[in-house]
Amino acid sequence: MRKQVAYAAIGLLVLAFLGFAAEKARDIYNGTLEQRVDALASIQPGLGTVMIEYGNRFTDAYFAAKGGNWGLAQYQIKEATEIQEVGEITRPGKAGLLKGFEHTYLDPLMEAIEAQDWTLFQERFDAAVNGCNGCHAATGHPYIKYTLPEKPVEAYIDFNLKSKPKVNPEEGEEEGK
Ligand code: HEC
Repeated sequence: MRKQVAYAAIGLLVLAFLGFAAEKARDIYNGTLEQRVDALASIQPGLGTVMIEYGNRFTDAYFAAKGGNWGLAQYQIKEATEIQEVGEITRPGKAGLLKGFEHTYLDPLMEAIEAQDWTLFQERFDAAVNGCNGCHAATGHPYIKYTLPEKPVEAYIDFNLKSKPKVNPEEGEEEGK
């Protein structure tokens, strides 16, 4: 009996050591530069995390366009494509699909925003929703079906503030500024 307890204790110690060794391999401060870069890469946001922001911005672009806050709608789609780029880098296997979606659906949606055309926006938004859900089905996530909620996600923003889209949306957003 005592022997069994001793073996169990040794077993736990071994497991704890192995666990520690495994943790050690994922240390952003210690190890070779390559090990540290690998550790950093392993904690970058994957598509699940990226998609939460993507969906929120896409939703808020809708409410902004509806409220006549075209500058905000443009900003939300621009930021959505920026977080999309993070997904393209951390999940390169999905980069082609994401780029394809952007050019097929988000570019035309952006044109509707630039034209401040609510009717056109709605048509293109609906088309984009089909694109979102088509990609979910194609990537083995048919249970993730985007539907427009009743309210915007960032309900604290004034979606009815009237504004125009910028001629150059990148203006004032250069790196480091
Ligand atoms: C590459 C094709 C692709 C496109 C295009 C795409 N998604 Fe996704 N989306 C995914 C994948 C893959 C997941 C599951 C992520 C995972 O497995 O980590 C996902 C997950 C999600 C989730 C669930 C996030 C969570 O974890 O709670 C939401 C919300 C979402 N997508 C919204 C959207 C919206 C809105 C659009 C369109 C504007 C869109 N997606 C376009 C591939 C895509």
